[in-house]
Amino acid sequence: MEFMDVLRERRSARSFREGEVEKEKLNLVLEAARIAPSWQNKQCWSFIVVSDKEVIKKLGGNINGWLKGAPLAIVACGDPRQSGERNGIQYYLVDVSIAMQQLVLAATDLGLGTCWLGVFDEATVRQALGIPEGIKVVAITPLGYPAEKEGLRDRMTRTLIGSKNRKDMAEIVHHERW
Ligand SMILES: Cc1cc2nc3c(=O)[nH]c(=O)nc-3n(C[C@H](O)[C@H](O)[C@H](O)COP(=O)(O)O)c2cc1C
Repeated sequence: MEFMDVLRERRSARSFREGEVEKEKLNLVLEAARIAPSWQNKQCWSFIVVSDKEVIKKLGGNINGWLKGAPLAIVACGDPRQSGERNGIQYYLVDVSIAMQQLVLAATDLGLGTCWLGVFDEATVRQALGIPEGIKVVAITPLGYPAEKEGLRDRMTRTLIGSKNRKDMAEIVHHERW
């Protein structure tokens, strides 16, 4: 796919077809994350690939209960001790987010669906995955082939939060000064 098409095609997927993600494709999306830029190239991230349905269900909790329908979940973690902090910005969040977005875009290019999940119970996730002290859980995404017909949750989100809408360029871009 052309790069701009990847950006335009990407959308959050919350319902998935039956069937596994091929190992080669999983490796490619993880590779996309691995080569991301980071604070002083510290690469403070770790990614946990989860295929156990019971565990995936726990990760979604009540709010993102639809996650249990995904064949895989990827949990993106960061180690703040391996990154920087300036002007009140914790750069481990930036590092992990860039890597995660590279993963998301690579997945889109391969026809796979993802959805950035910021709402999860950190204690539950830590416990379910044995995440060590000091490591922060930044985001979770499902990974799988999106269902041909969008599920109720996708349609609800689209309607409730207008997830297709984007601000106009004039609202977000300033030239020369704010
Ligand atoms: C930081 C962040 C946290 C998010 N958390 C959730 C979440 O917990 N559950 C969910 O269903 N979608 C979540 N989303 C997805 C957004 O709702 C979605 O990206 C937005 O509505 C735009 O829709 P699109 O991704 O289909 O373009 C999150 C997205 C971001 C960037």
